[in-house]
Amino acid sequence: MTVLSVQEALSGKVAAGGEVSVRGWVRTRRDAKNGLSFIHISDGSCFHPIQAVLTDALPNYESEARRLTAGCAVIATGTLVPSQGKGQAFEIQATQLEVVGWVDDPETYPIQPKAHSLEFLREVAHLRPRTNLFGAVTRIRDCLAKAVHRYFHENGYFWISTPIITTSDAEGAGQMFRVSTLDMVNAPRLPDGSVDYSRDFFGKETFLTVSGQLNVEAYALSMSKVYTFGPTFRAEQSHTTRHLAEFWMVEPEIAFADLAELASVSEDFLKYLFRAVLNERADDMAFIAERVEKDAVDRLERFVNAPFERIEYSDAIELLRKADQSFEFPVEWGLDLQTEHERWLTEQHVGRPVVVTNYPEHIKAFYMRLNDDGKTVAAMDVLAPGIGEIIGGSQREERLDQLDTRMVQFGLDPAHYSWYRDFRRYGSVPHGGFGLGFERLVVYVCGLSNIRDAIAYPRAPGNAEY
Ligand code: 4AD
Ligand code: MG
Repeated sequence: MTVLSVQEALSGKVAAGGEVSVRGWVRTRRDAKNGLSFIHISDGSCFHPIQAVLTDALPNYESEARRLTAGCAVIATGTLVPSQGKGQAFEIQATQLEVVGWVDDPETYPIQPKAHSLEFLREVAHLRPRTNLFGAVTRIRDCLAKAVHRYFHENGYFWISTPIITTSDAEGAGQMFRVSTLDMVNAPRLPDGSVDYSRDFFGKETFLTVSGQLNVEAYALSMSKVYTFGPTFRAEQSHTTRHLAEFWMVEPEIAFADLAELASVSEDFLKYLFRAVLNERADDMAFIAERVEKDAVDRLERFVNAPFERIEYSDAIELLRKADQSFEFPVEWGLDLQTEHERWLTEQHVGRPVVVTNYPEHIKAFYMRLNDDGKTVAAMDVLAPGIGEIIGGSQREERLDQLDTRMVQFGLDPAHYSWYRDFRRYGSVPHGGFGLGFERLVVYVCGLSNIRDAIAYPRAPGNAEY
């Protein structure tokens, strides 16, 4: 007798007639007539549960099998037989049923076999992976993460683990969470009244990283093609459906690359990820298309097959000014694009992902390379329909004097970034990279409307449950 996951049992790993055990949680129980019941068992290994046929030949049929409710943990052992059921080649004719864990109070078990609102499920984030939707999102997220590593592996990049605790503000935007072991009320103070962090754990003021980019740049200037993929943290007061306080970011960095190369890598990379989901998670995507967004699968297929549009920021502003639509936020050269502008460009104007390049220098980060016009930087954002910015990147300022000028302009102290300045001093070369917001990618692929549904335990202002 073989223990199989539901996915293995349904995929024909063992031929019909084989004796198998399947372990998981009951989704539903249906009693057909006296002495015959059906349960659906799910173990998360694939979209479909497996059906087990229970009869009164089981010694515990009356005492246990007919008392099963959604959420009970069971081991069903029996013969695999061909099934008539939709989406399942096999079912189990049970000869033995073990109830491993009962549900205390079936009436109040939060995950009933019915549709729940996403708001409600966010309040029971520890149980929501037992629903069809969160099972599907979890498997798709996993598929995307593995495809990220596979893409870079196949293309000669090295994975660098960059630190989570840091002294550097990688974006220079002042949105960092402080890490300290000091008791703030009685903390040692400097003569000016500010906290004396020289007495703190690291002997310095430290923060959770907003991006691994600065660290990974150093590795690009020795290993050529590298990437980091890890959690990043931003203390921005954004109560939106697109922002998390803790999110995962994928950041490749490439030596000798210019902006055009970065734009093509980002397109090639995203298409690779979409293709992986279409190939590997067809069942989950079919469910997403049925329940979340009708167009979900077609949309991914269209984007895999069509070239992304490329637009200069200045041209984007012209297009937006001429648009026969009124926007809430002003459209003017020198102002950043708001989500409504990004969505108009990619949804109304182009109808597919767009790479916007060469933004005004004062609205972008200090490390971006100044263009010859002196007004713009070699930055790019990839905008996707339904979400807006999904990737942000740039060619980096590799000229030390220009970098210092920009740091001062942004109110940053170059002395603080001496290590970052070093690789402009020792064999500096043009280089660049980009950051893909991993949860935004999940939102996009799964057609979700709130980023809090794209990560297991979302962190947002006022919310750090679990
Ligand atoms: O545009 P951002 O801020 O760029 C950087 O951090 C660069 N250091 C990346 C690089 O060039 N290596 O962030 C990159 C992406 C955004 O396009 C967005 O998808 C995502 O990260 N992002 C967020 N996702 C969820 N919640 C937030 N608060 C996010 N802020 C940025
Ligand atoms: Mg950005």
